[in-house]
Amino acid sequence: MSVDSKDWVARAKQATRELATEELVDLGIVPKGEPFVPVITYPAMGLMPSASAEEVLGPDPAVRQPVALYLHLPFCLTRCHFCHWVTRVGSTEEEVAGYLDGLDLEIRLYCEHLHLDRIRARSILVGGGTPSALSLGNLHKFLQILEKHVDTTECRQFSFEAEPSTLLGDLGAARLQVLLDHGVHRLSMGVQAFDDGLLRQTARPHTSAQALEAIARIREFGFQSVAIDLIYGLGGQTLQQWIDTMLTAVRSGADSWQLYRLRIAPHGDRPGTVLGHYRQDPSTYPGYDEGSVMKMLGNLISEEHGFHQDYTRIFSRDPSHVSGYLYDVNNDLADVIPAGISSWGSLERAYFLHVGDDFGKYRQMLAEGRLPIDRGLVLDEATAQRRALILALKNTKVDKRAYFERMGRWPQDLFGPTLDRMRGSGMVEEDEDFLRLTARGRFFADEVVMQFFEPRFVPPRKLA
Ligand SMILES: C[S@@+](CC[C@H](N)C(=O)[O-])C[C@H]1O[C@@H](n2cnc3c(N)ncnc32)[C@H](O)[C@@H]1O
Ligand code: SF4
Repeated sequence: MSVDSKDWVARAKQATRELATEELVDLGIVPKGEPFVPVITYPAMGLMPSASAEEVLGPDPAVRQPVALYLHLPFCLTRCHFCHWVTRVGSTEEEVAGYLDGLDLEIRLYCEHLHLDRIRARSILVGGGTPSALSLGNLHKFLQILEKHVDTTECRQFSFEAEPSTLLGDLGAARLQVLLDHGVHRLSMGVQAFDDGLLRQTARPHTSAQALEAIARIREFGFQSVAIDLIYGLGGQTLQQWIDTMLTAVRSGADSWQLYRLRIAPHGDRPGTVLGHYRQDPSTYPGYDEGSVMKMLGNLISEEHGFHQDYTRIFSRDPSHVSGYLYDVNNDLADVIPAGISSWGSLERAYFLHVGDDFGKYRQMLAEGRLPIDRGLVLDEATAQRRALILALKNTKVDKRAYFERMGRWPQDLFGPTLDRMRGSGMVEEDEDFLRLTARGRFFADEVVMQFFEPRFVPPRKLA
């Protein structure tokens, strides 16, 4: 390990020690030694009960426009070993085109249910899967479907997910031009590691040099923003490799990065590759303490190079590069209209999930003219109040007056004892206007906000 890297590690270890993890374990806030479970939303998707569209949406659902719009394109060039998103590899041109026809029908069904001519979007996220892997013909088809159904006049940010190899060569340039011409502002690209060994080992379809080339290209084309995803805690990943990845990210030209801690979880009903590997040899995976040091290294290296954490685990040159979709969903609690298999939506109190990983059932429901919703809940008032606090506190900050106006109660009146405990252990701070996580609280953001969960919605901490 180089002298510089040793210095980073020493500082990260010291900073991690200063967070006094052991004390937090004793207080029952940090569950050391158990699998890491991120808080993506509340209640967690995995805990949604079965429900039909009629049960969740009711006879005449209302929508607050403009909405956050999510579209899921479940096609990839390879299946990365760590990934548990719903996606397919090896689909033909016709199969993808058929899926897009389904999306077209699905958005039309949402418009009919919600009495809309067109959806007014405040932010758009096209995710997957790898949306940038679409052929040029299918990319045009997809963007035309979007233009037909979506009014983007008020859209502050249109984000599109990409994988580096799909943006290279003539085909990559043509894709980038089409995306630029159709108003995409921000490309969000999975890079995972600037390390060819780890990329090969996890079955990524690109090299580290190709990821850098793709970032440079996105810049040359003049997109407003380029974001990258990086993962720490991969099997066999060393501290040195993670430091090198972070220092390369700093020089890469990316405007922001989202740092993911590897989640070792089953893939749908199957164990999936990462869980299989882990079970064979758990010792190759960084443990809790090493994972914490990796997280701290990501924080320190980002902050010291001018990339700030305005949104938990996303580091950016300035807040305009953070995903507008995530901000709308988690901070502003905007209504979310979803389209595509495995996506989720929320319309005020209705909170629902589309069919996951069963393409036959998804197609069948659409063919019958039904929205592909098969799980969901109508949130009662208390759950909606928890959700509003948990999502804003975890990701940004709670605007106390806005909370009162939306929820009819002040956070302190609803969650006084838990807030007092979190303030007492240095996790949460407050001024006249806002409640927010301290630096210590942000490091344990998932664990802190889980303290506000209702017991029935605490996710099980097990691997399978
Ligand atoms: C839909 S993908 C991003 C775009 C594109 N599919 C790609 O991978 O290049 C979303 C991100 O989820 C993250 N991710 C996937 N599986 C994960 C896991 N097991 N643990 C943590 N993060 C994961 C990866 O960083 C990935 O880039
Ligand atoms: S990480 Fe991205 S490219 Fe890899 S399988 Fe998952 S969605 Fe596809």
